[in-house]
Amino acid sequence: MAELFLRACRGEPVERTPVWLLRQAGRYQPEYRALREKHSLLELIGTPELAAQVTMLPIDSFGLDAAIVFSDILPPLVGMGLELDFVKGDGPRIGNPIASPRDVDLLGAPPAEETLTATLEAIRIVRGELESRDVPVIGFAGAPFTLASYAIEGGTSKDFTRTKAFMLSEPAAWKRLLGKLVTVQADYLLAQATAGAQALQVFDSWAGRALGREDYLRYVAPHNRELYAKVAAAGVPVINFSLGVSAYLEDAAACGGDVVGLDWTLPLDEAWGRVGLDRPVQGNLDPASLLAPWRELAVRIDDVLERAGGRPGHVFNVGHGLTPGTPVDNVRRLVEHVHERTS
Ligand code: CP3
Repeated sequence: MAELFLRACRGEPVERTPVWLLRQAGRYQPEYRALREKHSLLELIGTPELAAQVTMLPIDSFGLDAAIVFSDILPPLVGMGLELDFVKGDGPRIGNPIASPRDVDLLGAPPAEETLTATLEAIRIVRGELESRDVPVIGFAGAPFTLASYAIEGGTSKDFTRTKAFMLSEPAAWKRLLGKLVTVQADYLLAQATAGAQALQVFDSWAGRALGREDYLRYVAPHNRELYAKVAAAGVPVINFSLGVSAYLEDAAACGGDVVGLDWTLPLDEAWGRVGLDRPVQGNLDPASLLAPWRELAVRIDDVLERAGGRPGHVFNVGHGLTPGTPVDNVRRLVEHVHERTS
């Protein structure tokens, strides 16, 4: 199916709805768990051949319509001078989190070609392998607020108090921090497109969880707008996935990107109506649906498809990442079902 996903991203009519899944490569797959017995997450990400191998796992197993390069949103922080580790059972850890304006000024902004070579090389390898199979490769990066929250909190946070305290107490340093992150992320996304990524996704996982609308508009939206404006130069479709922004979805979508990635909290038709039916969307099955028995999962897949109504410009996806307990068989049946129902 030539470029089904890319055509849907441009809002063009397609023979059937393309489908890929957030965190489609990961711990729910026995092959991934076997690789993780031998290598740490950062080793997998830092070794182009291994990252390419993991990227291919769900493509070979399920016939998905797009591959997303295997990496994480946090490695770009390392090139900027932050110490990153993933601690078993505890998630990401930054050893030297940002605590003062001076820490912000000490951060570097080196080019991705120097610091993220493994991921760029993994994209080249995967593109080479998938070209003949007509499966496009997606590159990605984190949005500035989400990355700033890790850099300041030192890990995943529930309430983002340190981040918000810094944002409100040091507004000038906050601007410089998000500005540096925009520079680094825009450069990284453009480098991924140069390396062969045919679409780009920006993950803003935490701004919507952390901030009310007025703070989002004041402290985040200008930086996101700058990021999307810079990345438009890549000339490939850009997906704006902002999690938890139902309270101000229109504002988050207005920051930019060609396609709006919808989280699972609103019915797809309502969310699509709010961003505008002329804008392509991606989403938005609740990933927990894949933990249900097939008959319940099938009803929920059909619900998303019905709400999409066969309109051009829909990419089927989950509305947040697949969880480690997802049965492999449900992923296989989901992909088959979306393909059958929409062709
Ligand atoms: O989607 C894919 O298949 C590509 C790979 C991918 C990973 N992380 C691999 C990963 C992508 C796109 C991400 C993005 C990411 N990473 C986000 C944004 C999306 C979202 O979920 O909101 C965020 C916030 C992170 C940060 C992160 N990475 C956390 C909080 C954790 C720990 C929690 C967890 O799920 O374990 C990670 C680790 C991580 N990144 C894993 C994978 C497969 C699990 C690592 C392992 O093997 O132990």
